[in-house]
Amino acid sequence: MTNKDLINLAVEARERAHVPYSNFKVGAALLTKGGKIYQGANMECSSYGMTICAERVALVKALYDGEKEFDKIAVVGGKDSLEYTTPCGACRQFLSDFGTDLEVIMGYEEDGEIKEKVFRLKELLPETFKF
Ligand code: THU
Repeated sequence: MTNKDLINLAVEARERAHVPYSNFKVGAALLTKGGKIYQGANMECSSYGMTICAERVALVKALYDGEKEFDKIAVVGGKDSLEYTTPCGACRQFLSDFGTDLEVIMGYEEDGEIKEKVFRLKELLPETFKF
């Protein structure tokens, strides 16, 4: 599974976003170490703080299936075209509970082309909380 393939799955997932308040759709595609894919999209609530991000939707779907080892996650977002969209702090923390070597791929559009920026989760959330 290439980064581009995973980005395309996140783009597909983004279409399932429920965003009546922000109109900002986010899609995520999480790849397990065993090669399974879990897609997610953001789900908004009239009480805004209850909103669930795309990354956490993908993660809880995987956890519900008993998956706990992850290789990479692609994240895409934007109103019209794809903007450079980075996972929020809450999602970084939730993901980090399952390993900070996770590759985080952010897909965005530039000159009509899908580009990517890749980080390790530990770069995005140094000194993550561990219980
Ligand atoms: N959002 C995500 O889905 N993931 C993030 O990492 C950042 C923000 C969503 C939440 C809300 O529905 C919309 O983007 C605007 O904040």
